[in-house]
Amino acid sequence: MRAVVLRHFGGPEELRPETVPEPRAGEGESLVDVTYAGLNFADLEIREGVYAPPALPAVLGADVVGRRRGDGRRVVALLRQGGGYAQVAAVRDAYTVEVPDGIDDAQAVGLLEQGCTAYCALVTAGRLRPGDSVGVAAAAGGVGHLAVQLALALGARTVTGVASTARKREFVRSLGAQAAVAEPRELAEAVPGGVDLYLDSVGGAGLTAGLAAVAPFGRLVSVGGRGKVSDSVAVDELTDRSVGVYGLWMRRVLEAPSLFARTADRLFALAAAGLLTARIDRVVPLAEVGAAHAAMAARETMGKVLVDVRA
Ligand SMILES: NC(=O)c1ccc[n+]([C@@H]2O[C@H](COP(=O)([O-])OP(=O)(O)OC[C@H]3O[C@@H](n4cnc5c(N)ncnc54)[C@H](OP(=O)(O)O)[C@@H]3O)[C@@H](O)[C@H]2O)c1
Repeated sequence: MRAVVLRHFGGPEELRPETVPEPRAGEGESLVDVTYAGLNFADLEIREGVYAPPALPAVLGADVVGRRRGDGRRVVALLRQGGGYAQVAAVRDAYTVEVPDGIDDAQAVGLLEQGCTAYCALVTAGRLRPGDSVGVAAAAGGVGHLAVQLALALGARTVTGVASTARKREFVRSLGAQAAVAEPRELAEAVPGGVDLYLDSVGGAGLTAGLAAVAPFGRLVSVGGRGKVSDSVAVDELTDRSVGVYGLWMRRVLEAPSLFARTADRLFALAAAGLLTARIDRVVPLAEVGAAHAAMAARETMGKVLVDVRA
């Protein structure tokens, strides 16, 4: 089969298509003939060797959609150990969801990883309530653009997105956000009284600025990023301002099978109702995965980036 192989940690040029043996399905796993694999920001950090470095050579890629061998069902799966940028993937049955009719392959893989992250950050960790004012960091990104739509679908009063360029802010407004700002420190002025819930995916100074915009009794949920929450948050300040800081990691969601299954169902139901759409930024062939990584690193992408592994 064809796959994109990483032999050395480094830049996007280290991602090269090769012909390699198909993976073997272990206990509790199935093989999937993949149509699309997704890109996630963490793939860039794994490629550089700065986050969860795998043994090399490795095939990266954390989400795939395709047909399961054996029963021929259309499935979407999350791969915690990589293996997505390939024509065949070995997926854990526990991290696999059947795709309902009416949801196409691109939507299914565009929704699952980043949608579960956004949904569980807003709802499970963030306790989103109807009428809340919500802020979303990197709101034009894979997680962010779904978070904007989810917050609105779940009854947020206003959603304000943060995005670095005018083109991205236009995109964020096109998703239904009432406002879009260039930096988290602009939130205080854009949302008088502050936000009830802020979803951060940037960390560091962006998280600190986002936290400053949270209203009394509000919550900030971090899904990670490039700065540690502990560098930015003092518990005394939380007490003083009566705000909470929460974290959300998909690994914990996957360790709670009923939460994962419920969340996937909810995402697909919202998509079927027309309330949630994964916007596909681009679909690249296997040979251009490196170029797609470069575009994501340059902050050029909006929504979800897919790899058509058949091309
Ligand atoms: N906790 C979890 O389980 C979990 C699961 C999935 C994703 N995540 C995290 O969620 C975040 C978003 O992931 P994603 O895959 O949806 O990516 P993405 O949002 O599509 O891309 C990252 C975006 O972050 C913004 N950004 C801010 N500082 C940046 C920097 N120094 N370099 C590059 N981009 C920067 C950029 O938007 P602007 O140009 O608008 O600033 C960029 O487009 C990542 O931090 C990822 O690790 C966490």
